[in-house]
Amino acid sequence: MLFKIIFAIAALYSIALLSWRFFRGYLLDKNLGLPDLDYLHKRRPNKKKLRGTAVICGGSITGLLTARVCHDHFERVLVVEAEAWVASEEGRKIAGYDTKPRSRVVQSKSLHACQSFLFSGLEKLFPNIELECRRSSIAVLPSNPRFNVSGRLLRLPFSGSKSRLPKTMYVGRPGFETLLRRLVLDRNAYPNIEYMAGTVTDIRPDPLDHSRLNTVVIRTDTGAQEFQASLVADCSGPACAGMKWLRQNDYGYAATYPRGKLPLNELKIAFDQKLRYSTMTFRISPTFHDQLPFPTADYWDTRPIYTFLEGKPDKGRAMFVLTRPDGDRLVAFAGHHGDARSQPMNLEQLKEWVRELVTVQPIPAWVFELLDMLEEVQDSASVSLVNVAPTSYIRYHQATNLPSNWIALGDSVMTLNPIFGEGCTKAFRSALALHNVLRDVPINLTSLPVDFSSKFFAEQHDKTDWYWANTRLMDYGVKTTIPLPGERLSSGAYLRWYISHLQILAITDDQAGQVMYESAMGLASPIDAFHPNLVAKILWRACFGPRP
Ligand SMILES: Cc1cc2nc3c(=O)[nH]c(=O)nc-3n(C[C@H](O)[C@H](O)[C@H](O)COP(=O)(O)OP(=O)(O)OC[C@H]3O[C@@H](n4cnc5c(N)ncnc54)[C@H](O)[C@@H]3O)c2cc1C
Ligand SMILES: *[C@@H]1O[C@H](CO)[C@@H](O)[C@H](O)[C@H]1NC(C)=O
Ligand SMILES: *[C@@H]1O[C@H](CO)[C@@H](O)[C@H](O)[C@H]1NC(C)=O
Repeated sequence: MLFKIIFAIAALYSIALLSWRFFRGYLLDKNLGLPDLDYLHKRRPNKKKLRGTAVICGGSITGLLTARVCHDHFERVLVVEAEAWVASEEGRKIAGYDTKPRSRVVQSKSLHACQSFLFSGLEKLFPNIELECRRSSIAVLPSNPRFNVSGRLLRLPFSGSKSRLPKTMYVGRPGFETLLRRLVLDRNAYPNIEYMAGTVTDIRPDPLDHSRLNTVVIRTDTGAQEFQASLVADCSGPACAGMKWLRQNDYGYAATYPRGKLPLNELKIAFDQKLRYSTMTFRISPTFHDQLPFPTADYWDTRPIYTFLEGKPDKGRAMFVLTRPDGDRLVAFAGHHGDARSQPMNLEQLKEWVRELVTVQPIPAWVFELLDMLEEVQDSASVSLVNVAPTSYIRYHQATNLPSNWIALGDSVMTLNPIFGEGCTKAFRSALALHNVLRDVPINLTSLPVDFSSKFFAEQHDKTDWYWANTRLMDYGVKTTIPLPGERLSSGAYLRWYISHLQILAITDDQAGQVMYESAMGLASPIDAFHPNLVAKILWRACFGPRP
């Protein structure tokens, strides 16, 4: 009898493990696009480009990545950017950390984190990226955010062996955007990309065939102009300008809607996390930097200094970060949900805010010494306070009757709670989805097929919808979040319970540490947290271990 039970358990475990492995491989392909990275160099089999111009509306992160991908597939690419100075030399300068702040980009002066997946994707798109990073004083290093949950350090994978941790780049949002623009507007590498200042105000259907677009209308200094377009890509960010153009031209509606499809005006959903962001950026000299009160020598060769996550969201989960991005900058960041605490506006208030964080292990004295030291350079500081807008999702994958050569990517489709630092990785995955779909355009075609737009939105859905699901799951764990209409904060409570155990386990357990790390880097599949061994450990902990 005992033998039979042991045998049954062993068999069940093997089946669980095998299914997990199989399913994970499938998800890494479908959702993460890891294998797709190797195809980024591949074009359509006959290498013939599609005729005409791909017009990209918006020249920020998503617009630039989209332009780079379109250069492989279209004869010409035109990027149109509404904020005029961005199109000048200033928008490409080497000292990217010193550019003017963007007035149309909400994140402009806030904390910026770059996930390792994004960096590995950029390396494929731009073989010269490390060199350009060096020119712009952007450090490229094995990624180690120094995550401390409630004051306790999370395990790093590979026992923290630096050479095996995936790399990332340490750069602020202005530096990143400027670098990307310089890479994409390299005339030698990508001769057919043009970048112009102007505001896209409308689209025009083909007079003979309403199902495709013919031109875009662009307002420039010299008046409105129309440009021929083989593909129109809305990369206008949270402005979601494309929605307006579609409405103006009667797209997105039908007499009847098949199952799962929705009229244009019902595509957008939004919920409010009530996120408060406070970012202080200091300029520090090399001598000042040398005097920082770090406890061990290895702090001098990493850029992140401290990433504190509050384990318990009772007061509306908080995050505190100290890091050194590009240039001579040091960033101190305080972010939280809701209004239970006030947003720090200067160092004094920041110290107060840090003292009130809920900790299990106290925050060490050197952190406060460092904050005290920053008072010396307080005059040079820029302080940016942001009340992050509710995050929104326009479910274009459920739309009907969209023009076949119209697409939308990046934040113009979905915005996320920025605390997870995933926005630009998501933009990259949108561009990857576009590359996948363009690569599949039949070789005998010189223009886009009638199902192009719907195929793209389906592929983008595969590559990005899980971001919305995951961040919503975590945001519903905070009482001040206002959920989606028709939903309750209690939805997903069991999963959250599981993840809170995983987070604590990651302090002592290598496997859990690896899952937490890889999730933070954009490298984990949605089921990595459910490896049979982890499930067993967490259930064991829940029954016999300490309370989280
Ligand atoms: C507070 C905050 C913190 C964040 N932190 C991070 C982080 O740490 N890591 C991360 O990866 N992401 C982060 N994000 C998300 C990140 O900012 C976005 O995902 C990213 O900027 C998306 O880029 P985008 O190109 O889609 O949109 P945007 O950067 O908003 O760019 C849209 C562009 O379109 C232009 N435009 C708008 N309308 C028109 C028009 N009609 N014609 C022509 N041009 C137009 C605008 O001028 C702008 O340049 C954060 C966001 C916020 C708000
Ligand atoms: C992070 O956690 C480790 C281990 O618990 C601790 O030694 C260290 O002081 C913490 N770091 C900070 C900055 O709190
Ligand atoms: C392209 O080839 C497919 C078969 O591979 C065929 O069905 C289609 O009609 C062809 N289209 C054109 C425009 O030649």
